[in-house]
Amino acid sequence: MYLGIDFGTSFPQVSTMYLGQPLLLLNPGEYGIPSEFYYDKECGVLVGQDALDAGQGEAAANLVTEVKMAILSGKSFVLDGRTFSAKEIIKEIYKALIMKATQVAKKRSINTNIEGIVISVPAKFGMQERGLISEAAKECLGATNVPIRAIIKEPVAAAISYYNTELEDNKYILVYDLGGGTCDVALVRSDSSSAEHYTVIDSDMVRLGGRNWDDELVKYITQIIENKSGIRIRGNVGYEEKIRRTAISVKHDLSDPSKGRSIARVELNGRIYTTPVSRTVFDEITSHLLRQTLDCLQDVYDKHSASCKIDEIICVGGSSNMLQVEEGLLKRFSKCKIRLYEPEHAVVNGATIYANMPQINVLKDIASFSYGTDSNTHLRHPDNKEIVSNIIIKGSRLPVTQSKGYCPTVDGQEIVAFRIYESEYTDDEYDRVRPDKRFVGTVELKLPPNSPKDLSLRCQLSLNTEGMLEVAASEPSGKKVMSTFNIRSL
Ligand SMILES: Nc1ncnc2c1ncn2[C@@H]1O[C@H](COP(=O)(O)OP(=O)(O)OP(=O)(O)O)[C@@H](O)[C@H]1O
Ligand SMILES: [Mg+2]
Repeated sequence: MYLGIDFGTSFPQVSTMYLGQPLLLLNPGEYGIPSEFYYDKECGVLVGQDALDAGQGEAAANLVTEVKMAILSGKSFVLDGRTFSAKEIIKEIYKALIMKATQVAKKRSINTNIEGIVISVPAKFGMQERGLISEAAKECLGATNVPIRAIIKEPVAAAISYYNTELEDNKYILVYDLGGGTCDVALVRSDSSSAEHYTVIDSDMVRLGGRNWDDELVKYITQIIENKSGIRIRGNVGYEEKIRRTAISVKHDLSDPSKGRSIARVELNGRIYTTPVSRTVFDEITSHLLRQTLDCLQDVYDKHSASCKIDEIICVGGSSNMLQVEEGLLKRFSKCKIRLYEPEHAVVNGATIYANMPQINVLKDIASFSYGTDSNTHLRHPDNKEIVSNIIIKGSRLPVTQSKGYCPTVDGQEIVAFRIYESEYTDDEYDRVRPDKRFVGTVELKLPPNSPKDLSLRCQLSLNTEGMLEVAASEPSGKKVMSTFNIRSL
């Protein structure tokens, strides 16, 4: 079987193709594996619900949540005196996912031999983050040598799952993904020349997700139950946890269109306390959150609507099930068609469909990002603008070797530093202050004494299919420095 894995911030999911459709490989009623990791000397490593259960009260200091967010920051975690890297934690979560997938497949009499995996990652992840995610998966699979067939961007996976017939080229789709911890928005374009059939044009993110909606409900219910019972809930970890579980169940209840209200029911000191929560109240106390996510979507829409026709918005992520989402989108984006179908499975389903596509190998042969240098040599630029000049452009066939000419900034310069950046930008050059570029490394070239500022230097980049980026900087006397960066596994 081929597996699709959505490594979500809150609930990683795994599925496979079964009778022509993606099938979630989880037990009935199970939503995903909570992305929680716990360690202490007594219990050892715990993952998922076990980690959540163990990490209550003071033990929360040994609990790691939302590890996906730590990938970008490169943070590591000290739990009960032991240090864990993000990669080690991710590896354990993969293990739990693969084990679950194999158990469920066995129960369903699906062949449990894993032939390949496709993993989805946020659109903003660069080669280094993708490398970390796939290295962790490879290490987890260990001796079995299961190939990671591809790493796919979440909004692209979502588009694949929504459009099962191929779209004609140059259709623009806005993806609104409201998950557990983040709201990711992206503009994708259908593009039959790319292996995935979709290209991400732009993306943005706000750190708001279902958890923030839960927080608002928790505050609301706590206040009412404290007044009714005279019991102080705030500060009592056990009571707070009960209220949170109730709040989540109320939130899910209220996404049923046939229900105008739900009853929050909490047991405290052997007595049951209840309070009704209407959908109107829920929508009111969370309206500021919804507004911020819609503003984020609006920004991307406004930035591009003049240059391309955006016809459809697809809703992705578990929190898109809240009825206020579709209502809010319809109100704000009345010109667009809003699509919403099983949003909580869109990404994992897309990854699974993609894992089963025959043309997938093409992906390996294309540069997923552009690579260039902002060396202080570029000042031949007429207005001395600070720029990064791209040398290898995203989409180039691999292996590829390209070079560009540069010169020192001043007469007598002793060293030229070629700083290499990875980005989504496909322009020949772009402003150095533009965000979303990632630093790969530096190559320093020593110049002969008294070199003039018009000395002709070359910077050559070579990228192969294994993700090795070789940088060679040279000057006319033949002196050359080279460095190699493994951009897929740094
Ligand atoms: N029917 C529902 N009604 C309301 N909220 C729901 C429903 N189903 C799931 N959710 C919420 O969706 C959130 C999880 O969404 P999702 O599985 O898309 O997150 P994720 O992909 O793990 O995280 P992220 O996208 O932030 O990385 C949780 O807050 C959960 O409570
Ligand atoms: Mg998600």
